[in-house]
Amino acid sequence: MYRMLEFSGVSYDYPGHGTDQPALTDMTCSIGQGEIVALLGANGSGKSTLVRLSNGILVPSAGTVRVDGIPTDDDELIWEVRSRVGVVFQNPDNQIVGTVVEEEVAFGPENLGVKRNELRSRVDEALAAVGLTGLERREPHLLSGGQKQRLAIAGALAMRPGYLVLDEPTSMLDPAGRSDVLGIIDRLRDSGTGILHVTHHLADTLGADRVLVLHKGRLVYEGLPDELLFGALDLTALGLRLPAAMRFAEELRRQGVTLTARARDASSIGEALWG
Ligand SMILES: Nc1ncnc2c1ncn2[C@@H]1O[C@H](COP(=O)(O)OP(=O)(O)OP(=O)(O)O)[C@@H](O)[C@H]1O
Ligand SMILES: [Mg+2]
Repeated sequence: MYRMLEFSGVSYDYPGHGTDQPALTDMTCSIGQGEIVALLGANGSGKSTLVRLSNGILVPSAGTVRVDGIPTDDDELIWEVRSRVGVVFQNPDNQIVGTVVEEEVAFGPENLGVKRNELRSRVDEALAAVGLTGLERREPHLLSGGQKQRLAIAGALAMRPGYLVLDEPTSMLDPAGRSDVLGIIDRLRDSGTGILHVTHHLADTLGADRVLVLHKGRLVYEGLPDELLFGALDLTALGLRLPAAMRFAEELRRQGVTLTARARDASSIGEALWG
């Protein structure tokens, strides 16, 4: 059996949404195990709708979503779907239910019926994966923004999902918190998890294996991060902003500085200048 999180011709229209275009139209894409797929798009382009469709919180108005071949719209298989696709929603602060960190992480697998002794090892493993070991008894509201985001990821990981869907996991973090989360995503990919990383920061997609771009609910690009950055697509028209380092490189070029075409981050710009 093929192992994949797969959207085939998926459309979604919120009930009573009016005459506007649907939130998502005819979306086809897949996330395999051991790869990072980044999903980019402006506000309202349909990213979070796709996230809600990934584990059956919403079911498609048309088309199908399948996880390892299991359709998300079969009520009898919904827990099978939810145990395979871990989701961290856009604002994890609103999702905290535990009074201490370890309780928060245990919540998901406990609901799946995981036994006490296995629960312990799952919680320990998940906290270690996000670098929160030692904070088991800490109250979640005392954590920093970055720690809360990592706690939310640990909660999803404790289900031992094959796929992890992260909705803007770095949007509220400072640069250090962002690079922590990006590092966690890389390590999870290396251990075989399939990752869908939803973001509106182009800079956060540079380490992805593939990038998808949504515009007004439709897929308008699928390809490599570099091809998106240096290709023909008008990124501004899609509501995307170039990474700060690339805007800086453009400004340098405008001032007459010669830079290689592919200067895309601080170190490649440095090399292009002095390398
Ligand atoms: N619960 C809802 N009920 C009705 N319409 C909704 C609902 N949630 C989203 N929408 C609409 O669906 C469209 C896509 O929204 P969605 O939240 O998926 O976009 P997004 O790309 O995640 O945006 P953001 O970057 O702001 O998080 C928008 O037009 C939005 O207004
Ligand atoms: Mg969103």
